[in-house]
Amino acid sequence: MRIQLVGLGNVGRGLLELMEDEKELISSRGLDVKVVSVSDSEGTAIDEGGLSPLDVLKHKKLGWKTFNKFVEGFSALDAIKEIKSDVVVELTPSTPSGEPGLSHIRTALMARKNVVTSNKSPLVVAYGELVKTARNKHVHLLYEATVAAHVPVFCLTCSCFKVDELLKVEGILNATTNFIIGEMEKGRSFQDALKEAIRAGWAETDYRDDIDGLDAARKVVILANSLFDQDARLEDVRVKGIVDIEPMIREAQKSNRRIKLISEISRNRNKLNMIVEPRQISIDDPLATVNQGNMGVKFTFKTSREIFVSAEFNGCRQTAYAVLNDIAKIQSLS
Ligand SMILES: NC(=O)c1ccc[n+]([C@@H]2O[C@H](COP(=O)([O-])OP(=O)(O)OC[C@H]3O[C@@H](n4cnc5c(N)ncnc54)[C@H](OP(=O)(O)O)[C@@H]3O)[C@@H](O)[C@H]2O)c1
Repeated sequence: MRIQLVGLGNVGRGLLELMEDEKELISSRGLDVKVVSVSDSEGTAIDEGGLSPLDVLKHKKLGWKTFNKFVEGFSALDAIKEIKSDVVVELTPSTPSGEPGLSHIRTALMARKNVVTSNKSPLVVAYGELVKTARNKHVHLLYEATVAAHVPVFCLTCSCFKVDELLKVEGILNATTNFIIGEMEKGRSFQDALKEAIRAGWAETDYRDDIDGLDAARKVVILANSLFDQDARLEDVRVKGIVDIEPMIREAQKSNRRIKLISEISRNRNKLNMIVEPRQISIDDPLATVNQGNMGVKFTFKTSREIFVSAEFNGCRQTAYAVLNDIAKIQSLS
């Protein structure tokens, strides 16, 4: 499969590193991928015979000037329109307007290219439209990495609970805030813990999206649209962040309870309630076991009842893994 990579930040570089480090395992599992173009905000590196991940990573670090395969000013949009490929992997920042990712994904789908993305905002802004375009063009749009990185959310629900009714989702969906709260419980300051999360590359491009609860709210909208078949919007989510959380943490500690930034989606008759807020939870709640920058989701189904899944998260390599797994899924579906 010919892949076009758009965005070479933490996740994009993580994906190339993973493809390089695990190339034998990847090929032993039958995944045959060739990266034909890589775009960042400056331009695009192109080789229809396949770019070497190591070469791309080296030149991204040292500067593109000395890389003869790099065309300055040849944008991702130009690349999607003009270079032949099977899959566009969209990894640009999540923004309020959905751009530039929205145009990248729209253009790719219209050109009958499959899309894999970790970028939430195009799905928040135009989920219904993008899914419909993918269906009409007979291509796949996969986005496992958009919600809680490599925690299996969409893979799990669509393969194991096809004929069950989902009633409620509660989750810790944001690694940065979970890490900060955990460190504050140990006595560390908010600012200090935030700086470490930024250094580790977990934080959003604009870290205020994490601490104000916006990143978690975007994930709630994607879950509502994808799992509850809604036309949910960001403004329908009640959101509270963690900026003033210190007194709440100290209060909870007095009764041996934990504070977590909980994202919740539940059905109330025909209406969906969508909330992101810091909550006191009992230490018996499985979500209380989700520590550090880890993430977890508790699903309640009508028949299967409570299913809890969590995963250790220690960096964007695991987000990159979720992207790679979606690429592999496309190969097996095609
Ligand atoms: N970090 C994680 O673990 C994680 C987890 C789940 C989801 N996500 C989502 O994944 C996406 C990528 O995250 P990240 O941490 O890798 O972001 P990042 O480090 O900020 O990287 C963004 C990349 O997009 C490129 N870019 C920006 N505008 C562009 C344009 N118009 N055309 C082409 N490239 C453009 C940037 O180019 P330059 O390099 O030239 O600036 C940069 O390489 C985000 O939407 C984020 O919300 C991230």
